[in-house]
Amino acid sequence: MGITDLLLQKGERDLNSERGVSCDGELPAASDPQLVERAKAARAALGSKAMVLGHHYQRDEVIAFADIRGDSFKLAQAAADNSEAEFIFFCGVHFMAESADILTTPNQKVILPDLSAGCSMADMATASQVNDCWQVLGKLGVAAKTIPITYMNSSAAIKAFTGKNNGAVCTSSNAARAMKWAFENGEKILFLPDQHLGRNTAVLSLGLTLNDCVLWNPWKPNGGLTDDQIKKSKVILWRGHCSVHGRFSIQNINDVRQQVPGIKVLVHPECQHEVVSNADVVGSTEMIIKTVRESAPGSKWAIGTELNLVSRLANENLDKQVVFLDKTVCYCSTMNRIDLPHLVWVMESLVSGRLVNQIKVEAEVAKYAKVALERMLALP
Ligand code: 13P
Ligand code: SF4
Repeated sequence: MGITDLLLQKGERDLNSERGVSCDGELPAASDPQLVERAKAARAALGSKAMVLGHHYQRDEVIAFADIRGDSFKLAQAAADNSEAEFIFFCGVHFMAESADILTTPNQKVILPDLSAGCSMADMATASQVNDCWQVLGKLGVAAKTIPITYMNSSAAIKAFTGKNNGAVCTSSNAARAMKWAFENGEKILFLPDQHLGRNTAVLSLGLTLNDCVLWNPWKPNGGLTDDQIKKSKVILWRGHCSVHGRFSIQNINDVRQQVPGIKVLVHPECQHEVVSNADVVGSTEMIIKTVRESAPGSKWAIGTELNLVSRLANENLDKQVVFLDKTVCYCSTMNRIDLPHLVWVMESLVSGRLVNQIKVEAEVAKYAKVALERMLALP
């Protein structure tokens, strides 16, 4: 048995507990010239006991260590499909790591390298706000025929609410399938928490009208809606949005089309409805990558999604012109919190027998959230 096995065995005994441990004073300096070598050594020491999952919005320095890169759907599937790796380093944001914990076996541990990597959109719907909304729907007699669909970008508690109330999770790559499934099982959808993904899918994929959708404002009594508006609506959209994708505008599209004749605009469905309606192609991060990769040499693309991904796409497709749709820098600041120093810190800590930053969803919440996640994974 090598030193690594001994250290890992110690790590197995010391589990639990250290979620939220501070990395103050322990975080390697970003300027450490040995950082990449340290990451390689720690990764090699952990071997097949560990798996590194990396979302497409992660920095290059982190993606370089990902065993699997993907969008949130692909990474959820990867977590669900792997029962061997005991430690899963999730390079993404908190709700993704929670979903991985829910979908893995009880003896697998999910680690988020920086616990402050959250998602502002996920924070826009709290469990108590959603329960208040559901009570209003109950009083109006429409809850029983309403199916909640929650975007993956939500807390485990919201996913649990969805699972308990006959609903399903969706991601940007299967939102249309999830909404069609919901209409086969009910008459109305409560779509949480991204109004744009919900509206874009309802109107552009399902053929509903903007008037079929109403916007629930959790900060106003009755969501800021009349009883009649709620009863007549087909889709109740939660008033949440992504601050990164919300920045892209029609002006950006007009400017780039004027500056680069023949360019095609490719955007993520979290963008505003007028942006998505005027784009040439709309898709999840995985779909954006596939579309650019499979396009003919010489193709020109203006892409409206997170900047780490767009920069990487530009570097990986040198035979095509790939530009960022906005003129200003637009990283997702929380995705960007996962940097190489944090990844090195969590890996080296584990090698030395200390499990840090474990994401552990409470059992009762996990039970119902899993129902909603598994409904998504089983969508036709
Ligand atoms: P994907 O579902 O395309 O991975 O998107 C996740 C996300 O957070 C986009 O902002
Ligand atoms: Fe959340 Fe937007 Fe960042 Fe995606 S890009 S993780 S939705 S804040």
